[in-house]
Amino acid sequence: MTKQKILIDTDPGVDDAMAIFFACLHPDLDLVGMTGVFGNVTVDIAARNAIVLAERAGQDIPVARGADVPLKQTPNPVSDYVHGEQGFGDIPAQPTRAEILDESAAEFICRMINENPGEISLCPIGPLTNIALALEHDPSIAQKVKNVVIMGGSLREGGNVTPHAEANIWNDPHAADAVFAADWPVVMVGLDVTHRVVCTPEDFSELAKAAPKLGGFLQDASHFYIRFYEEVVGITGCYLHDPAAVIATLRPELFTIENHPIEVKVDGEEIGQTAISTNPDRRAMQICTGIQAEVVKDLFMDTIKSGF
Ligand code: RIB
Ligand code: CA
Repeated sequence: MTKQKILIDTDPGVDDAMAIFFACLHPDLDLVGMTGVFGNVTVDIAARNAIVLAERAGQDIPVARGADVPLKQTPNPVSDYVHGEQGFGDIPAQPTRAEILDESAAEFICRMINENPGEISLCPIGPLTNIALALEHDPSIAQKVKNVVIMGGSLREGGNVTPHAEANIWNDPHAADAVFAADWPVVMVGLDVTHRVVCTPEDFSELAKAAPKLGGFLQDASHFYIRFYEEVVGITGCYLHDPAAVIATLRPELFTIENHPIEVKVDGEEIGQTAISTNPDRRAMQICTGIQAEVVKDLFMDTIKSGF
C-alpha cells in the first residue's frame, strides 16, 4: 500500500505535538513537510517546535515558516495560558539542528502540491492564514491537492474560545472564510467530533511507559495543558483536537459527515463562527458530525505506543 502523503500546517502546541508524532509514527503516513503558523505560540516558536518534534521522532522533515499575523484582523494574544510559554507546557525551549527552509510556508505548500499533484492531504491544525496565502500565491493548487483536512470550526457544538468560535477559526476568520470559499475538497474536523475524544493523565502515563522518548515528551507537555482543562473546561484530560484531523486523512470512514457550504463570521459578537452558507456559489464541504471515538482513541494510543 502506498503511503498517504500529508503536509501539516501547525502552531505546536501540545495537541499539535500529539498529532505530529502520530503522523511520524504511523506506517501508512508520509509526512512530507510542515509549515509553522502563529496561534498557540508565535510563528517563530511554531516553526522551531515543528523541527523539535521531527528531530525527536528521528525524521528529517522540511519545515517552512509562515504567517506571523492574521490576514486582516488585529492579532489575538497567543494561547500561552493553554499550551505554555514555549508551546509544550512546562518544557523549556528545545535546541534544534535543522534550519528553517528559505521559502515561505505559502511557497512551500504550493511547490509540494505542484510536485505531487493529486497526492497530498493538506492538514492545517492551526489558524488558516498560510492556507489562504498559498491559494493567493497559486490558485491552481485547489485543483491539484488531494484534499484539505482541517482541525477547526464547529457546526452545532458552539465555540471553545467564545461561545461561538473555535480557536483556529477565531484566530483568522478572514483566512478561514477564503479557504472555505475556494473550489477544493475541504473536510472540517471540528469541535462536534474532537470533543468526543479525551486523553487522560492515565493515558499519558501509558504512552510514557510504552514509548519513553516520544510518549514521555507528550506526558511532560501534558501536565500544564491538563491543568488548563481542569480549571477552565472542567475535565481531567484534554481533547484529541489535532490528532483527530490527522487520523481523518488516513481513516475517513471513522467519521460521519454532512455536506454543507460553510461561511465564517468575520466581525461582531459571533466573529469566528462557522455556519452553513446560503450562498449558491459556495462548494459544499465535508463536515464531520460523528466519530467512532473509541476506535480513534485506540488508534492514536496504539500508534504512539508503537514508537519509542
Ligand atoms: O481549538 C483547538 C485548536 O486550537 C487546536 O488546533 C489547538 O492546537 C489550537 O490550535
Ligand atoms: Ca493546533
